[in-house]
Amino acid sequence: MDYLVTGNAGFIGYHTTRKLLERGNSVVGVDMVNDYYDVGIKEARLKQLDEVSAKTGSNYHHARINFADRAALEAVFKEHKPRKVINLAAQAGVRYSLENPHAYVESNIIGFTNLLECCRYGEVEHLAYASTSSVYGANTNMPFSEHHGVNHPIQFYAATKRANELMAHSYSHLFRMPTTGLRFFTVYGPWGRPDMALFLFTRKILAGEPIPVFNNGNHTRDFTYVSDIAEGVVRITDNPAAPNPDWDAANPDPATSNAPFRIFNIGNNTPVKLMTYIGALQDALGKKAEIDFLPLQDGDVPDTYADVSELMAAVDYKPATPVETGVANFVDWYRSYYNV
Ligand SMILES: NC(=O)c1ccc[n+]([C@@H]2O[C@H](COP(=O)([O-])OP(=O)(O)OC[C@H]3O[C@@H](n4cnc5c(N)ncnc54)[C@H](O)[C@@H]3O)[C@@H](O)[C@H]2O)c1
Repeated sequence: MDYLVTGNAGFIGYHTTRKLLERGNSVVGVDMVNDYYDVGIKEARLKQLDEVSAKTGSNYHHARINFADRAALEAVFKEHKPRKVINLAAQAGVRYSLENPHAYVESNIIGFTNLLECCRYGEVEHLAYASTSSVYGANTNMPFSEHHGVNHPIQFYAATKRANELMAHSYSHLFRMPTTGLRFFTVYGPWGRPDMALFLFTRKILAGEPIPVFNNGNHTRDFTYVSDIAEGVVRITDNPAAPNPDWDAANPDPATSNAPFRIFNIGNNTPVKLMTYIGALQDALGKKAEIDFLPLQDGDVPDTYADVSELMAAVDYKPATPVETGVANFVDWYRSYYNV
């Protein structure tokens, strides 16, 4: 197979797999389809992928396994021999990590270790994996740059994602395995995640219920449209990490290395106030929201803003969809999916 994509029943994994199939690539997807949120939407995404592969004739197989199960993942690698690997399976979500840290250890630490080993022995050309803007944690130096230090995570989710970056570096160093970490900034769009704000707000506004708005609405977020994320993921995966010849061990840059290792932000580079995002949603729905203002929640960072100059330099691309367009596309999808 050209690509192995983990998390293909998930939000970003679905869009990324779809993009690869549409351009004729062969893909094996790995997703256990867990019940962290509505399984129905994951099954519907998988059905869409079956339809795309039937239409395009692209070779596609879905392996319904838990990648924390080492033998099961090894069997998938043995059978499908992927050339490149994109890791989008994870236990996601900031707030849930305060409730159930063990789920993050299983998927983000054990699953990721199994994936590193399979990539090592499978001699994979490039492993690209999801990290998150949450790794910037307590840092308030904006925009967030890959060259900043990221040693102050403020919740366990971010700690496990930062661990992935460090684990990947050790494999890039020891086995000269090209790895690239991709720090996504608040992703939204059609086929989105029911546990995320846009989905929750849409459901509540349509039901005439008040929406909970934390930090009294004072958040800003670098909201990034999902198709732009998928485009960035595919471009980066096709451009394997190489050692940085200018890397200075006496003054080590955290974003690169003398090993084939890199980290990139993928964000819109345009921070938007949460109230502006809600305004775009009200416009798209044609309905006003009733707002329940609440204090900042534990584990939430107040603001995010991505410096994407490194992404631009590497693959000549930066996300650019404005929230008004992206939110309207989400609402169109939501209305047709739920028939409301
Ligand atoms: N959506 C965002 O705003 C955002 C922001 C930053 C980073 N990320 C990261 O991007 C990646 C994709 O996120 P998403 O929004 O598509 O999440 P998602 O929850 O929709 O997708 C993750 C998928 O992984 C699968 N999965 C989880 N654990 C598994 C396991 N042990 N074995 C097999 N499959 C498993 C789930 O069933 C799910 O379908 C994740 O790593 C997430 O942490 C997402």
